[in-house]
Amino acid sequence: MPDISTKYMGLDLSSPLIMASGPLTSSLDDLKKAEDAGCGAVVLKSIFEEQIEKDAGRDASASGDYLMHSDNQEYFEAMSRDYYVDRYLTLLDGAKKSLGIPVIASVNCKSVNTWLEYSQRFLSYGADAIELNYFPIASNAGVSGEKVDKELFDFAKTARSRIEGKLALKIGSFYSSLSNVIKRLDETGLDGLVLFNRPFRPDIDLKTLEVRSSAPVSSESEYGMSLRWTALMSAELRRADIAANTGIHSAGTAIKMLLAGAKAVEVCSVVMKNGFSVISKMNGEIASFMEEKGYLATSDFIGLLAEENYERGDAWERVQFLKTIGSGK
Ligand SMILES: Cc1cc2nc3c(=O)[nH]c(=O)nc-3n(C[C@H](O)[C@H](O)[C@H](O)COP(=O)(O)O)c2cc1C
Repeated sequence: MPDISTKYMGLDLSSPLIMASGPLTSSLDDLKKAEDAGCGAVVLKSIFEEQIEKDAGRDASASGDYLMHSDNQEYFEAMSRDYYVDRYLTLLDGAKKSLGIPVIASVNCKSVNTWLEYSQRFLSYGADAIELNYFPIASNAGVSGEKVDKELFDFAKTARSRIEGKLALKIGSFYSSLSNVIKRLDETGLDGLVLFNRPFRPDIDLKTLEVRSSAPVSSESEYGMSLRWTALMSAELRRADIAANTGIHSAGTAIKMLLAGAKAVEVCSVVMKNGFSVISKMNGEIASFMEEKGYLATSDFIGLLAEENYERGDAWERVQFLKTIGSGK
C-alpha cells in the first residue's frame, strides 16, 4: 500500500489533504470529523482582527458599566477582545486534547500589533503552527504597488521575528510580480506559504439592487493560478513549503499540485459541497494513483513537474494561445 503521508513545514501529515480555515473548522465536532475522514491537519477558522476590533468597540459602547468605571472605554474593549481570544483558546485547547493530527491556528491581521502576540499565545496553547491570513485590497489609487509590496514584506518580517514557532502566510495572487513576492517572502524565513487564498467577492443582487456576497465556494476550474505558481516557484524556495489552495475539488487536482511541488494542499469548498467523506475518497484515489505509477511515497513524485525539474518547464510560463481558432492544431 503506498504511503500518502507528507511533511509540511516540518509537520508530519498522514495525508497531504489539510482542512482549510473556514466554516468547517470552527467547532470541535467538525474538527473531529475532519480527522476521522483522514485529513492530515486542520487549520482553525481565522480569528479576525478587524471584526473583533469592531465588535469590541461596539460591545464597550453598549455597556453602560463603562461609564461608572474609573477607567475608560479602552478597558472594556480589551475585556471584550479577551473574550473572543478566550473562546479561540478554548477551541484550540479542545482540538489539541482530542485530535492526533496537527492543529494550525489562523489569524487574520491587518496590522502588526497585539495580534502577533496572540499568535504567540496560541503557540503556547499547543498550536502546531500559525497561519497568518493576509489579504489587503489595493483599492487606493494613490498607493503604489511598491508600497503595497513593502507593507507585505514588513508584515512578514515582523511576524517572523516575533512568532517563535512554525509560521505560514496565506496570501492572495494580486501582486504585479508574484515570483518576486513569493521569493522575497521565502527569504524572510517563513516555514510555509499558502498559495492562494480565495477572497470574498462582492456581487450585485439585481432584484434588490444591493451589494451582496457572490457564491462563497470555489468551482473546480479555479485551480489554475495555484498550479502555475506552485510549479514556477516550488523548486526555487529555500525554506518555505507550499500548500496549494483554491479550486482543489478532486484527488486528481490534489495530485497535480503535488506534482507541481506543493507539499500539501488545503481544501474547503469540496468538503462544504460533499461532506467530510470526500476526504477519505480523495485519500483512496491518491493511493490508487501512486499504486498505478509505482510510487511508494509522496516524495517520489512531489515536484516532479515543477518548472526546474521538468524538461519542458517553460510550459508553465506560457500565457498566450498561439494557435488560431479553427486551425485544428
Ligand atoms: C465560507 C468561507 C469562510 C472562510 N473563512 C476563512 C477564514 O476564516 N480564514 C481563511 O484563511 N480562509 C477562509 N476561507 C477560505 C478558505 O480557507 C480557502 O482558502 C478558500 O475557500 C479556497 O479554497 P477552496 O477552493 O478549497 O474552497 C473561507 C472560505 C469560505 C468558503
